[in-house]
Amino acid sequence: MRVSSDSAKPLLILGIETSCDESGVALYHTQRGLLGHRLHSQVAMHADYGGVVPELASRDHVRRVLPLTQQLLATCEHTLADLDAIAYTQGPGLAGALLVGASIAHGLAYALNVPAIGIHHLEGHLLSPLLADPAPAFPFVALLVSGGHTQLMRVAGVGEYQLLGETVDDAAGEAFDKTAQLLGLGYPGGPQIARLAERGQPGKFKLPRPMLNRGDFNFSFSGLKTAVLTAVRGKTLSESDKAHLAAECQAAVADVLVAKALNALEKTELNQIVIAGGVGANQHLRRQLDHAAARLGHRVFYPPLDLCTDNGAMIALAGALRVSAGAATATTRAFDVRPRWDLETLRGPEQALTPLS
Ligand code: KG4
Ligand code: ZN
Repeated sequence: MRVSSDSAKPLLILGIETSCDESGVALYHTQRGLLGHRLHSQVAMHADYGGVVPELASRDHVRRVLPLTQQLLATCEHTLADLDAIAYTQGPGLAGALLVGASIAHGLAYALNVPAIGIHHLEGHLLSPLLADPAPAFPFVALLVSGGHTQLMRVAGVGEYQLLGETVDDAAGEAFDKTAQLLGLGYPGGPQIARLAERGQPGKFKLPRPMLNRGDFNFSFSGLKTAVLTAVRGKTLSESDKAHLAAECQAAVADVLVAKALNALEKTELNQIVIAGGVGANQHLRRQLDHAAARLGHRVFYPPLDLCTDNGAMIALAGALRVSAGAATATTRAFDVRPRWDLETLRGPEQALTPLS
């Protein structure tokens, strides 16, 4: 997708993502599209702790972001002087990690005399299918499934997000991560559960499909973790039992997500749905949803597979959409981060996301 017409002045945007445990940078050109992106995952560093250690995450972002940016610029045959704006993840996320990206973005923007624009991390995720070909057209339903969020939204345009429903407790990614922990698998759990599930069969164990038949669009995944705990407590599971449990966990999460996603399409009378966030990389979920949606004549859109989990490309794209729509940008160099930030409070593309005071 391109965000500007041929006649508009083309813009080159650097995107910086540091909200959690991935340092991501990307260059997006409003006429040429995504020029490239670079990612450093901290997964190996946090693996010993079974989850993300916020202070370690911040310190690693400090080490990674500028070298990644230099490599990216060199590969794309650009220099800092070519940048027209710098987009960074302003929230939600880990405060210290966000501050690293925000500080670097504002420091570079000040030095280069270009605007810095704070982007909502989830806006990045839900616009990321626009980086795929074919891309969806507004309006569409978005299912955001990450480690921290499970939400169904109606997306009418950039910044026009109506929450249809969300999890009342754990996120879908959390259900995978916690199940993986209970099965003695590593972190993050989603990819490990998916791999193990290939050797198992759903149905050998019975896990609940919480809130499946309720008419609303809310989710609850904490009961799944309790059910897995009950299934494993005091037992020594064989490798094949573990695989069956992983397959059942994956099927339970997918069944609920697919059913609610289809309900949301019906209620909004829309026929396009985008899946974004790390859990969107799950192939079982994709197969189930593709199959169910095709039967009902709906179209499903995903970001490119490497852009499902956190990355700089989605931040650069969201920045490009907002900057090219004339988003007002900071008049002072003061900035803050928003570790908690409600997506529904966002407004259209011209909104100033960076505080003006
Ligand atoms: O969007 P994301 O990279 O980071 C957040 O913003 O949270 O999502 C990370 C989540 C983790 O919970 C991880 O276990 C899950 O996405 N995940 C997966 C898969 N790949 C990542 N879950 C299921 N299947 C996968 N293939
Ligand atoms: Zn994310």
